[in-house]
Amino acid sequence: MRRPAKSSFVPATGVHWLLPLYDPLVAFCTREGKSKQWLLNQIEFESEQQILDFGCGSGTLLSAMADCAKSLGYDGLRFVGVDADERILRQAESKLGHVNDGSSTSVELLCHHGPRLPYASDQFDACVCSLVFHHLTAEEKKGTLGEFRRILRPGSSLYLMDYGRPSHVLAATCFIVVRSLDGWRQTADNATGQLPSLLEKAGFQDVQELFHMQTILGTLYAWRAIA
Ligand SMILES: C[S@@+](CC[C@H](N)C(=O)[O-])C[C@H]1O[C@@H](n2cnc3c(N)ncnc32)[C@H](O)[C@@H]1O
Repeated sequence: MRRPAKSSFVPATGVHWLLPLYDPLVAFCTREGKSKQWLLNQIEFESEQQILDFGCGSGTLLSAMADCAKSLGYDGLRFVGVDADERILRQAESKLGHVNDGSSTSVELLCHHGPRLPYASDQFDACVCSLVFHHLTAEEKKGTLGEFRRILRPGSSLYLMDYGRPSHVLAATCFIVVRSLDGWRQTADNATGQLPSLLEKAGFQDVQELFHMQTILGTLYAWRAIA
């Protein structure tokens, strides 16, 4: 795993000391069995693709994507997981050992935090980003979407899953927990339902809501957008 210079970001659990509990917490609080499976069902795999998971955290989605692509008979895929936090990437490393088992599909992890992703333009065939945008300020969201547009091949898909406008008063009340842990500034565009328009402003086309679901922490949405 390559490591970045020291920098500040909101960790997976909002606070670092809860990181060892990330997997059970996210499983319960985001109905992960359903939400990540529903997202996975939308991804169109093909052999030889390069797929980026930005803010991959403990690697649950990376592992599920690699297993799914292999089970569908695709080979030669390269999955890249990027995250700012080397502690959560250590959890990912232990979860992903089985993927690099000598088959032609591989997964690699990069610890990176910065305005520019260290990848060539038009390099990736798909990008997934799950539960990261509510950790980013408006400026970081804009910059990250610009980078997604740059590294994605034109016509390829971004799959973005995150909290959006709460669909009722109870969901808005629950979302206060996330907002106080992960930052009021970072979660503002989520709370006001701005993510689809941010995607459009960044130049993505055909922004489509794939699903939304209630969780005990707010309303979770997934969108697909074309680079
Ligand atoms: C709530 S976790 C989501 C992890 C995983 N994608 C999932 O769905 O379970 C958010 C992740 O985003 C990472 N993160 C936050 N800010 C980041 C940034 N600016 N660049 C890269 N990763 C970031 C955190 O370290 C954390 O692992």
